[in-house]
Amino acid sequence: MTRWSPSSWRTKPARQMPRYPDEGALAKVLGQLASYPPLIFSGEARALKAKLANVARGKAFLLQGGDCAESFDQFGTATIRDNLRVLLQMAVVLTFGGRLPVVKVGRVAGQFAKPRSDEVETRDGVTLPAYRGDIINGVDFEVMARLPDPQRMLRAYLQSASTLNMLRALSSGGFADLRQVHSWNVDFVGKSGSRYDAIASRIDESLAFMQAMGIAGHHETKHVELYTSHEALLLPYEEALTHAEEMSDEHYCCSAHMLWLGDRTRQLDGAHVEFLRGIANPIGVKCGPSIGEDDLLRLLDVLDPKNEPGRVTLIGRMGVDKAETHLRRLVGSTAKAGRVAIWSCDPMHGNTRKTASGFKTRHFEDVVREVEIFLGVCAEQGISPGGVHLELTGEHVVECIGGHADITEEQLASGGYETLCDPRLNVDQALELAFRLAQALERLTEPTT
Ligand code: PEP
Ligand code: CO
Repeated sequence: MTRWSPSSWRTKPARQMPRYPDEGALAKVLGQLASYPPLIFSGEARALKAKLANVARGKAFLLQGGDCAESFDQFGTATIRDNLRVLLQMAVVLTFGGRLPVVKVGRVAGQFAKPRSDEVETRDGVTLPAYRGDIINGVDFEVMARLPDPQRMLRAYLQSASTLNMLRALSSGGFADLRQVHSWNVDFVGKSGSRYDAIASRIDESLAFMQAMGIAGHHETKHVELYTSHEALLLPYEEALTHAEEMSDEHYCCSAHMLWLGDRTRQLDGAHVEFLRGIANPIGVKCGPSIGEDDLLRLLDVLDPKNEPGRVTLIGRMGVDKAETHLRRLVGSTAKAGRVAIWSCDPMHGNTRKTASGFKTRHFEDVVREVEIFLGVCAEQGISPGGVHLELTGEHVVECIGGHADITEEQLASGGYETLCDPRLNVDQALELAFRLAQALERLTEPTT
């Protein structure tokens, strides 16, 4: 294999990459980015890898989630705070159900670039380049907006820095207090019917017990660690933010703690695999139904030659109808090969469909069902279910159908459909999924008599 460097991906075929019209302007922006402070510190990425190593050993559970695509326009305090809040709420429920610490990783502070199935978009006979995320071009259907503009990378960097600053403040400034997070869950349970009462009141009892024991005010109940992640798609940006660590000979991509490889860019000889193989961060690999067992094992040889616990999280995204067959063959093959990579479940991307009126949506029950199938296959193959990877928001949007509010297809057109890309679970659907998953995890850990 040839020698790796932060720019060695440039010698490989790169899919999904924009062509910038002005090379000089691009080079200037990349130079600026390379001189800016890193968004994360390499020690944090190493700490996340250690936590993920616990996930790999079955001693923790990974909750990864957030927007499909962050947006320049929807940037503000409420979005950041509400997305963090729902992740914290879900984490409490999952910790209880799974009896395990939950490692929290947001799709946040950098999740801007989107892979697209079609290069172009046609509306009323007019064809323009596809929208590729705010870090690349604009969503408006206009010639100028759709032109890739390198200045957008600077804006994405600054928005990521500001988002991270807010997240770090909220994580340690009192917002994450366990009792407060639980009280938000009680509000949700109150309006969702009696289905989740039992778990909520048992968490209540546990908190009362902790209070009585004098451990309710401890550091661990008031602070959380939230890590950041995004798809490593726009390689010039990722390269500019990659730095060699002074103390070691390792390189860290300092745009996020964890980076993942998309299902459309996981070619063994491609630029994205080349870039990710050389950075020392924990990485994810999206695995759709088209990946073969051998492809996956060869990918792991390249991305994780040392078979290091916590290095790779395999994120299955099959779709409810295909999940059982494909997860069984892939989970089976990594288990048989002695691979320690985590298996996580993205029940979103294989379950997207278009309604007759043209809305991209997902059905809540398909999402829940794919997670349940995943848990079943992991049990059958003798591995622990590593986690879930979700597209969700802390807002009351109307993008996915179903859930306890029983959102219908017709309602998608009545306002509240805000996503720039894929449909997200809204705050209530996300919490409901956490309760359903907690119930399923409890069933798994119940002693059999
Ligand atoms: C995504 O996670 O937003 C995404 C595009 O996923 P995938 O690569 O699995 O299609
Ligand atoms: Co998506």
